[in-house]
Amino acid sequence: MPRDASTPAGARAVTAVAPAKINLHLGVGDVRGDGYHDLLTVYRAVDLWERVTVSLVDADAADDDDEVIVTGPGAPQVPTDRTNLAARAVDLLREEAGSDARIAVRIHKGVPVAGGMAGGSADAAAALVATDRLLGLGLGRAALEERAARLGSDVPFCIRGGTALGTGRGEKLATLLHARAEQFIVVALADGGLSTPTVFAELDRLRAERDPADPGRGLPRAGGVDPLVVALAGDDPAAVAGLLANDMEAAALSLMPALRRTLRVGREAGALHGMVSGSGPTCLFFCTDRDHAIAVAAEISEHGVAREVRVTRGPVGGAHIVDDPTGK
Ligand code: C5P
Repeated sequence: MPRDASTPAGARAVTAVAPAKINLHLGVGDVRGDGYHDLLTVYRAVDLWERVTVSLVDADAADDDDEVIVTGPGAPQVPTDRTNLAARAVDLLREEAGSDARIAVRIHKGVPVAGGMAGGSADAAAALVATDRLLGLGLGRAALEERAARLGSDVPFCIRGGTALGTGRGEKLATLLHARAEQFIVVALADGGLSTPTVFAELDRLRAERDPADPGRGLPRAGGVDPLVVALAGDDPAAVAGLLANDMEAAALSLMPALRRTLRVGREAGALHGMVSGSGPTCLFFCTDRDHAIAVAAEISEHGVAREVRVTRGPVGGAHIVDDPTGK
């Protein structure tokens, strides 16, 4: 095909990866006029990765050659048309570049689908970084994060990685540079997923139900993040574990009561803390070190309370290119 003017010579395909997120603190405010909830959250990127390849398709190729191909665990649940969040990321930058290039998207899932770990957002983050390079746009990280916020509340964090305070609907970020101590976390995947809007709606319902006269008073709320932010500067996993909080947990447990057993098993296995990840249903168990995490993971596996159990660690960096034939 005639190469798009803004495409660097030789760059036919670019691959980027982006990490899963967990929320060490997830405080959810009341629903706003635009349907979103104000959040106060501490994000952390962990080393489960989505891998996205964007490639130029010849203009005379078959009609479906720029389709979205998804592989890996949970792939059948992911849309393969242009509503896919990674494809929307590609199309956003393509339109911005004024390019009519056909771009195929291949996604390999390493993050649980609909698991409360931002797998779809990571796809969008990786797609933005890869497409920026493929089309030679040269947008900086700040500009990419701004585009990311248009695609979803967690997408900017999947670009940035590390550990960050998130406000607004989660898209306004302040990196916590001092929060560098390595942390080991057991991730217990559930059978099935939970849709994020459904869990937010369930939280609203539970809050209203607990005290209809004064919605918001009924369920305990996560409170401030200052003690956690201070603890993250140190190197004591138990101190951090004692300060973790997730307002979404009550709603996820209400929709999927079986998760209570998963949490109990992980806690009895000796985890410092067990909680639902984001909107769930993945459960997280915080451990003292790698050996402890391996022991806790083995115990959870033995009890058969999770579809799959993985040991992960964080913080890790954000979205980045792993394969670029132009060698840039
Ligand atoms: O931003 P994103 O598209 O990932 O959000 C998915 C859905 O989750 C939103 O449509 C909204 O229903 C809910 N949400 C929310 N408050 C947030 C983030 C997401 O209510 N801060």
